[in-house]
Parts: sequence; C-alpha cells; structure tokens
Amino acid sequence: MYLSILFSFFLCLASAQSASFDAREATIESVHNSIFNGNISCRDVALSFLSRIEVLNNRTNAIISLDPTALATADRLDALLSSSNATGSLFCIPVLLKDNYNTASTPTTAGNLALGQSRPSADAPVVAALKNAGAIILGKANLHELALEGLSVSSLGGQTFNPYDSTRTPGGSSGGSGAAVAASFSVFATGTDTVNSLRSPPSANSLFSIRPTRGLITRRGIVPISYTQDVVGPIARTIKDVAAALNVMASVGFDAEDNATALIPPSSKGVDYTESIGSESLSGLRFGLLTSFFNRTSSSENDPVNDAMDKTVARLRAEGATIVPINETIFNVTAIAVNDVQRLEYREAMDAYLSSPSLGGQHPSHLSELYSTNSSGKGGRFLVIPGQYEYVNTALISSTSNATYSSTLSKIQDLKQAVADSFTRNNLTALLYPEQRNLVVKIGSPSQAGRNGILAALTGSPVVTVPIGFSPPTNDAPIGVPIGMEIFGRPWEESKLLGIGWEMEKLFQIRKPPIWAEEVVEVTEFSQEKLEAFKPNRGNIPGVYSLGTL
Ligand SMILES: *[C@@H]1O[C@H](CO)[C@@H](O)[C@H](O)[C@H]1NC(C)=O
Ligand SMILES: *[C@@H]1O[C@H](CO)[C@@H](O)[C@H](O)[C@H]1NC(C)=O
Ligand SMILES: *[C@@H]1O[C@H](CO)[C@@H](O)[C@H](O)[C@H]1NC(C)=O
Ligand SMILES: *[C@@H]1O[C@H](CO)[C@@H](O)[C@H](O)[C@H]1NC(C)=O
Ligand SMILES: *[C@@H]1O[C@H](CO)[C@@H](O)[C@H](O)[C@H]1NC(C)=O
Ligand SMILES: *[C@@H]1O[C@H](CO)[C@@H](O)[C@H](O)[C@H]1NC(C)=O
Ligand SMILES: *[C@@H]1O[C@H](CO)[C@@H](O)[C@H](O)[C@H]1NC(C)=O
Ligand SMILES: *[C@@H]1O[C@H](CO)[C@@H](O)[C@H](O)[C@H]1NC(C)=O
Ligand SMILES: *[C@@H]1O[C@H](CO)[C@@H](O)[C@H](O)[C@H]1NC(C)=O
Ligand SMILES: *[C@@H]1O[C@H](CO)[C@@H](O)[C@H](O)[C@H]1NC(C)=O
Repeated sequence: MYLSILFSFFLCLASAQSASFDAREATIESVHNSIFNGNISCRDVALSFLSRIEVLNNRTNAIISLDPTALATADRLDALLSSSNATGSLFCIPVLLKDNYNTASTPTTAGNLALGQSRPSADAPVVAALKNAGAIILGKANLHELALEGLSVSSLGGQTFNPYDSTRTPGGSSGGSGAAVAASFSVFATGTDTVNSLRSPPSANSLFSIRPTRGLITRRGIVPISYTQDVVGPIARTIKDVAAALNVMASVGFDAEDNATALIPPSSKGVDYTESIGSESLSGLRFGLLTSFFNRTSSSENDPVNDAMDKTVARLRAEGATIVPINETIFNVTAIAVNDVQRLEYREAMDAYLSSPSLGGQHPSHLSELYSTNSSGKGGRFLVIPGQYEYVNTALISSTSNATYSSTLSKIQDLKQAVADSFTRNNLTALLYPEQRNLVVKIGSPSQAGRNGILAALTGSPVVTVPIGFSPPTNDAPIGVPIGMEIFGRPWEESKLLGIGWEMEKLFQIRKPPIWAEEVVEVTEFSQEKLEAFKPNRGNIPGVYSLGTL
C-alpha cells in the first residue's frame, strides 16, 4: 500500500517534469488517461508516434506516407480539450490507414507506382467516421501491391519486413498495417480482407483483429478487388481497441453505394461492441476444431504452429470449454478455394474505381491501362511476382458475364448452408483453426502459402484473430515468430466473438512487442515540410521480383 502510493507519487513527478507520452503499447484507454488526467497534449501524443515512425520505420518499412493534416488536427483537438469540448470515442487516437483507403489529404496508391499521384476528392465514409470520432490520421501503411497477395511488397512502397524476424514477411496484404501496429507506430490501423488480409498480418505480428461480417461496414472509397469477398476492419494490440474501432467503422451503417450494407440486420444496428468485453465465459462453450486446417507433416515451419494450437486447445479445455473435432469433408481449403470469384469481379470493380469522376490526380482510368507497358511513360509501374501474371492476365479477360460466375456463386451459397448445418448439428459457438498452417513465409517467396482465410472470405462470416504463441527463438527471430488463431463465428455474431477473443487474450497473455520496438524514442517536433517530405526509407523490392512488363 505504502509502496504503491510512493510509486504513484514518483510517476506523477516524472510526468509533470517531462510531459512526454510513452507511445509504446499505448491503448485508447492509456491515451485518454494521459490527455484527460495527465497534462499531456494531443500534439504530444501525435508527435510521440510520428517520432517513432521517423526513427524506427527503417527497421520494418511499414509506412508509405504521413498525413500533412496530422498535426493541425492534433492542435484543433487540443483547442477542444482546453475549452472542455473534447468528445468522440476516438478523441486524439492516432490511426494509420492501409493505403487503399481513400483520403483527400494524401494520394491513395494501393502501393502501385501508377497510382502514386492518384488523389481522391473525398475521404472514404469509414475514414470520415474515424475523423468525426476524433481520430488523428497519421498516415498510410504499405500493403501488398493492390492487396492482391500476402507478401506485403509493392512497386511504390517496397518490401515491408516482419518486425519480429526481418528475414520474413509481415503477412499480408495489410502487412504494413500489421507491422506498424506491432511497432507502436499508431494505436490501431485499418486493413482490408479479400481472402486473408485482416488475419494474416495480426497472426504474423502478435496482434488482434476482426474480419466483420460482409456488409457490416461500407466499402465505398476503398480500392476494390471483389464485390463478393471484400470487407474492411481494424487491427490493434488489444481486443478492447478492436471493439472500439469497430464501433466507429460500423457506425456508417447502410450506404446506398455499397448494397451489401443493406444486409445489416436490425439487431446489429447501433451495437456497442465494447459491451461484449467481459460478458462471455469460456466455460461451457463448444468450439469446433477444423482438423483439416492443419499441416501435420513435421517440419520447422509447421511444428511451432501445431504446438501452439495443441497448447491452446488444452488451455481451453482446462477452462471448461468443449472442443469438438470437425472432420466433415466440406472443410477442405483446396476444394473451397476453387470457388474464389476475385478474378471474375476484379476488372469491373477496378474499372469503376479508376474511372470515377471523383478520383483526381494522374492515374490510369482502367485496369488494363494500369497493367499496360506499351503506352509511353507507363512501363514498369507494377510489381511482377511469378504467379501473379496469371492472376492479372485472367482478370483482364474475365467478368461477371463469364458462364462460371453464377454457378460459382451458387456453390458459395451451398458452402454457407453446409457451414450453418455444421454449427447447428454440432451445437457450436465458433470454429477454431490456425490462420496459417506454417510460419509466415520468408522474404522473396512466391506466395504466402498455407493460409486458411478462404472459408470466411467466401461465406462472409466474421472472424476474430488472436495471438496464441511464438515459434522457438532463433538468431533471426530473437523472441520467435508470432502465431495466430482464427475464431470463426456465425454471421453478425461480432459481439460474441469479441467477448470470446477478450477472454482468450486475458487467459493466454501472448502479445509481446518486437525487441527493437521497445526502444524509447526521443520526441521531436515535426514541421509541415517534414510531414510532407516523408518517404518509405527502404522502398526497394527483393531481387527475385521485378517491375512489370506484361
Ligand atoms: C503541464 O504541462 C505544461 C507544458 O508541458 C507545463 O508547463 C505545466 O507546468 C504542466 N502542469 C502540471 C500541473 O504539471
Ligand atoms: C535505421 O536508421 C538508423 C539511424 O538512422 C541506423 O542507425 C540504423 O542502422 C538503420 N537500420 C536499418 C535496419 O537500416
Ligand atoms: C465549447 O463549447 C461551448 C459551449 O458548450 C461553446 O460556446 C464554445 O464555442 C466551444 N468551443 C470550441 C473551441 O468549440
Ligand atoms: C449491388 O451492387 C453491385 C455492385 O455495385 C451491382 O453489380 C448489383 O447489381 C447490385 N445488386 C442489386 C440487387 O442492386
Ligand atoms: C449447446 O451448447 C450450449 C453451450 O454452448 C449448451 O448450453 C446447450 O445445452 C447445448 N445444447 C444442446 C442441444 O446440446
Ligand atoms: C505441408 O508441409 C510440408 C512440410 O513443410 C510441405 O512439404 C507440404 O507442401 C505442406 N502441405 C500443404 C498442403 O501445404
Ligand atoms: C473426427 O475424428 C476424430 C479422430 O480423428 C474423432 O475422435 C472425432 O470423433 C471425429 N469427429 C466427428 C465429429 O466425427
Ligand atoms: C481436398 O480437395 C482436393 C481438391 O478437390 C482433393 O484433391 C483432396 O483429396 C481433398 N482432401 C481431402 C482430405 O479430402
Ligand atoms: C498495348 O496493350 C494493349 C493491351 O494492354 C493492346 O490491346 C494493344 O494492342 C497494345 N498496343 C501495342 C502497340 O502493342
Ligand atoms: C472468362 O471468359 C474468358 C473468355 O471466354 C476466358 O478467357 C477466361 O478464362 C474466363 N475466366 C475465368 C476465370 O474462367
């Protein structure tokens, strides 16, 4: 008692003297504590994150651009603070956006050189909602170019490195967002997910995320891939922050320009997802374990994942949860992936995005132009990875008029039905499986192999991803490579999944920052020029890839 009073006294003394904010592992709650009770200004908070980006970004190359309005926003929030008018659930919370979210203040590049000057005239509705809730947009994060793979390398942003092991990728496609949040470059970041992209980066960076039910959040103003599969959502260091970010991103609700939002049921309108925190108990829950979503062949890449999952299952059982092994043949990732419809939807969606009158700045007006190398000055402006050629070439000649489109959509309906049947017959709350059957792949790999995201991508079901362990430490990975698990639920059960995710966060206590991210970075001022001049500082691509000639 006496000691703790003494300790708090010294803490107060320290903060009164330095008035600096410690951004490391900061949460929405810790930022709010500092600005409302700790004599820290919103500008101090923003600068503490910007200073970390300035000094540490070269360890991971996660950031593409800083937002020129970031500090002006912080100052405006400080004025509200001093006139006791601070409102908004994300008041003064620094956020990074995956660079496929439209913003009026910075180009929206999707990591592609041909889109380096592409200037949306308005923020995406989700970005506007974050700002209205008081968030400070610090800048944009690198991604796998155009969000088309999971390696997080792009012609404009170069390669993002895994902060826990610089010989590995950070997962993807939202890999810049994942690496940035792992390194405390912001409190949370946004991502998008067409197959795996909101789950693979949290899995590879010891973070939490939600892939919301398709339709919960409008996708307007976000560089598209697939009408059927795209969703958007947050990545954070705690489940509480995922829930708080989801509240704001989902607050846009119905958007006539994204008709998937018409599916939102009345029961999901105006839900406060933070209320689910602490409302669940693991005891008595029934989880289906997808036994076919593992690679049980022993290898140094698979064993750590299998060990972490086996330990997790044992811990859940010890808490009183029932684990039901699910062996049904429908849960076959290879067979499910055949019904991926991206290639059939991509060209139409991108043509609509690129030809929108509200998209300003120099940019290709169609997908074929983005990928053309024969018109003057446009050559070599996209990344070529062996294998992606085939994807793009097929997308360029495919459309929703292809004969296979409607039959594939009907197979997706069958899959949704089969998954619902399994939930009901086995009386399940959620399905569990590793996000990736092996550790996140090395830099220079041809693809992010072994991921299990396709089930939620096609069914549109919600998934919460949680950290469950690390591989054994090595020279390259001093505290090991992070491993994550998906908690897959029925449509619109975000609250339940977040409640379960929080119980698991508390029980497992896995998350650790990367070693270099524990460095205390001296907070320095940022001039407007410095904000605007920011460049990715290791913006190179590994030699095994090249810039395009198609
Ligand atoms: C609050 O911070 C300001 C500026 O950092 C400093 O001048 C002032 O003394 C601090 N006040 C208290 C009560 O710590
Ligand atoms: C990052 O920059 C710092 C200071 O400029 C330098 O000391 C360090 O070696 C750089 N790290 C990498 C990985 O390039
Ligand atoms: C703060 O709110 C008061 C009334 O509640 C209003 O008069 C004042 O203009 C506001 N100040 C700012 C900076 O918005
Ligand atoms: C929903 O929107 C998509 C994409 O804009 C469009 O292709 C489709 O026709 C719309 N569906 C209905 C029923 O309006
Ligand atoms: C289904 O599981 C729940 C716990 O999640 C339990 O309360 C209920 O009794 C079970 N129902 C059946 C029919 O087994
Ligand atoms: C399973 O892992 C082994 C060993 O790493 C690998 O050779 C094999 O390709 C993997 N199988 C699948 C289906 O990913
Ligand atoms: C799945 O297989 C395991 C053994 O591999 C068995 O113990 C379990 O009962 C099976 N589950 C179902 C639902 O059939
Ligand atoms: C999964 O599906 C693939 C492709 O249809 C098939 O080759 C494979 O045998 C299936 N695996 C199992 C375990 O049924
Ligand atoms: C340039 O590429 C487009 C396809 O992107 C093709 O239709 C056209 O024929 C090409 N032109 C020349 C001169 O090669
Ligand atoms: C769509 O149809 C075109 C033209 O018939 C064909 O070349 C292409 O491969 C088809 N796409 C897919 C994904 O089947």
